[in-house]
Amino acid sequence: MAIDYLERIPNNVDIADNRRLKRALEAWQPHYLDWWNETGPQAWQDKEIYLRTAVSVDANGWANFGYVRMPEYRWGIFLAEQAKDRRIAFGIHKGEEAWQEVPGEYRAVLRRLIVTQGDTEPASVEQQRHLGATCPSLYDLRNLFQVNVEEGRHLWAMVYLLHAHFGRDGREEADALLERRSGDADHPRILGAFNEKTPDWLSFFMFTFFTDRDGKYQLASLAESAFDPLARSCRFMLTEEAHHMFVGETGVGRTIERSCQLMNEHDTADIREYGGIPLDLIQKYLNFHFSVSLDLFGAEVSTNAANYYTMGLKGRFQEERIDDDHMLEDATYPVIAVEDGRIVTRHEPALTAINERLRDDYVADCQKGVDRWNRIIRNHGIDFELKLPHRAFNRAIGAFSGIHVTPAGDVLSEDEWQARRDEFLPTDEERAYVNSLMVPVTEPGKFAGWIAPPRRGINNKPIDFEYVKL
Ligand SMILES: [Fe+2]
Ligand SMILES: [Fe+2]
Repeated sequence: MAIDYLERIPNNVDIADNRRLKRALEAWQPHYLDWWNETGPQAWQDKEIYLRTAVSVDANGWANFGYVRMPEYRWGIFLAEQAKDRRIAFGIHKGEEAWQEVPGEYRAVLRRLIVTQGDTEPASVEQQRHLGATCPSLYDLRNLFQVNVEEGRHLWAMVYLLHAHFGRDGREEADALLERRSGDADHPRILGAFNEKTPDWLSFFMFTFFTDRDGKYQLASLAESAFDPLARSCRFMLTEEAHHMFVGETGVGRTIERSCQLMNEHDTADIREYGGIPLDLIQKYLNFHFSVSLDLFGAEVSTNAANYYTMGLKGRFQEERIDDDHMLEDATYPVIAVEDGRIVTRHEPALTAINERLRDDYVADCQKGVDRWNRIIRNHGIDFELKLPHRAFNRAIGAFSGIHVTPAGDVLSEDEWQARRDEFLPTDEERAYVNSLMVPVTEPGKFAGWIAPPRRGINNKPIDFEYVKL
């Protein structure tokens, strides 16, 4: 039975011709399905969902739409096309041929990088497991499940690399990826943001906007890797990641739009009694999700990041478009830091500031989305501006983990922070309010009262299309 299933796995890595790999994936696949059934979308596994499935990497192949029950989803293994004669673009191996096999001296580090990336994929499925019960529409429900099955595919992508290139340790790591659980006290997922709850749909949209975007930047820097199979896997994953961020940006945007409509209709900013989410509460959710996502980039000054770069394992965002020596031997990079309780800018060696540079690229990208949200608010004639909080705000990792600052960047004492925290982050009561709005709407074309409909449907289908067959 498992063999039949494997033959149904669309792939461009010739699984059928590689007996050792085929056997390893056959052994792992039932455990994957057990994991999916145990921790994947609750209560929707037997329903037909209108989903996109990748069956090849070319322009026509990666977006095939049709109804499928999620446990029967064809989780494929795809690497982007191999570039001819690809050369390593940075670090001490710059100019050498890209590696098709893992160099022995980098084996442990590369495995760690792949496992850390791989661990985030199932984690987000676990975090989003309960959301189906409170979907604001069938359109949104379908988008949630699309994100979920693709995160499952991303796990397959990393597990393929572990099985194909890391022998027994790789197989053990692949098993462990199915054993950790988001938020579990004894076996948590590796990174902090992936152990947080995603309790409501506003959180889900913020998560896909901010945290999946961290994924985009991590994948983009791994797409530069000298280890070619990793680079090619990540390049293909990026095409799917774009949809996840679309779900986040439009989800928050539609929430904002509905809030603005209610504000104008009732001539008040306090739209709670009309079932909307006030803009200042949306700002608090933004503050939370942005700050926990910033932590995912790691410490501002990091010798690990410098080593990954020097070894050629993990590059900068769009490495080859940067005009410098790609070795960073003497270059510096501005990094903000804390000195005597104040926030200052220092010039650090660019090599150790690799994380911070990637974070800068990420922040600039987030800002563009926030600008588009603000345009929605302005178009309703409302005087309110959403802002990304200061990057030192609410941090648990790096130079700012020891201090408290306001979203504007003013340093606070511990007592001041305790006294004012509720001004900046959602309170239990506010989260309970948002939660109270989360009532399921499952009639095609209908939407919950707190969110506006989208401009258009998925794959040119109408908005009232039956995206999920109940
Ligand atoms: Fe992913
Ligand atoms: Fe994603």
